[in-house]
Amino acid sequence: MIAIQCTDLVKRYGQMTAVDKLNLEIYKKECFGLLGPNGAGKTTTAEMLEGLLKPDSGQITVLGDTWGGSGDRRLRERLGVALQQTELTDRLTVAETIGLFRSFYSRSKPVDEIIEILGLVEKRKTWVSRLSGGERQRLALACSLVGEPEVLFLDEPTTGLDPQARLWIWEVILAFKNNGGTVFLTTHYMEEAERLCDRVGIMDRGRLIALDTPEALIDSLNAAQIIELSTDKPLEQSKLEGLDGIERVVLEETGGYTIKVAHLETTLSDVLAEVDRQGATIVYLKTRRTTLEDVFVNLTGRALRDE
Ligand SMILES: Nc1ncnc2c1ncn2[C@@H]1O[C@H](COP(=O)(O)OP(=O)(O)O)[C@@H](O)[C@H]1O
Ligand SMILES: [Mg+2]
Repeated sequence: MIAIQCTDLVKRYGQMTAVDKLNLEIYKKECFGLLGPNGAGKTTTAEMLEGLLKPDSGQITVLGDTWGGSGDRRLRERLGVALQQTELTDRLTVAETIGLFRSFYSRSKPVDEIIEILGLVEKRKTWVSRLSGGERQRLALACSLVGEPEVLFLDEPTTGLDPQARLWIWEVILAFKNNGGTVFLTTHYMEEAERLCDRVGIMDRGRLIALDTPEALIDSLNAAQIIELSTDKPLEQSKLEGLDGIERVVLEETGGYTIKVAHLETTLSDVLAEVDRQGATIVYLKTRRTTLEDVFVNLTGRALRDE
């Protein structure tokens, strides 16, 4: 059931401890996300699990095997790895690049099949140097998938991509998972983690500070979803409070209302109907839900992203 396990994993760079006694268990067929800000230790962790970086101490097991023995090559064949910065050769075409990676594996998908899956058909003969950022990321993913891996390691697979390129990559990752693959990914996008991951570990300064399903992490804040609204005339607050699914109604000093609800999707329309019934008109409306970002801020007092 367990695909990857690490115990008391430590990596130091000089005085700095990049990964500090990390314990993780990643199950087969799950998508596990390591979420954290820049410098948290995500890449260092991924590279140790991938067998590319030697830990200072601690144990790693991948698909029942350990790194550093005679079985490394065989184990590597069962894994697909896309590094944070993939060094692809500029003077190869897309098809040649995939063909090159394919030659590393004894078992592999045909080049054209992988090109099709990643939506690179039109770029088949394009030089790597001519690809956009999104296309390069897709090519890196193609190279990691060509050996039909059991476990896929992806380090920030969509960083810097536009939403459309990101969606494409998400679909490919989800399809891999739905076919029984195991995914270990790192990201600093909470939305990516929420969308793809069955479980998320939140990492900060080399340590794991939380680990659960995205839903459970968000629920742990006990923070409901929120409707903020104001109307052209005061509302009968008790009627709002009487609606199903309302947790709390607060009349703000500005005259607007902040309404906490359990399920925004079902309650918003009831709230709007009630406002209408009271003969009032909405002049301001905003809804928001709690996210993994709120979880991180709550745990650390800092924002996940530095931009
Ligand atoms: N080769 C290295 N030499 C020195 N310090 C490093 C090296 N690689 C990473 N670090 C440091 O280790 C910490 C964790 O880095 P990294 O694992 O890349 O974090 P993340 O991927 O979460 O952004 C950072 O403070 C980074 O500067
Ligand atoms: Mg990184």
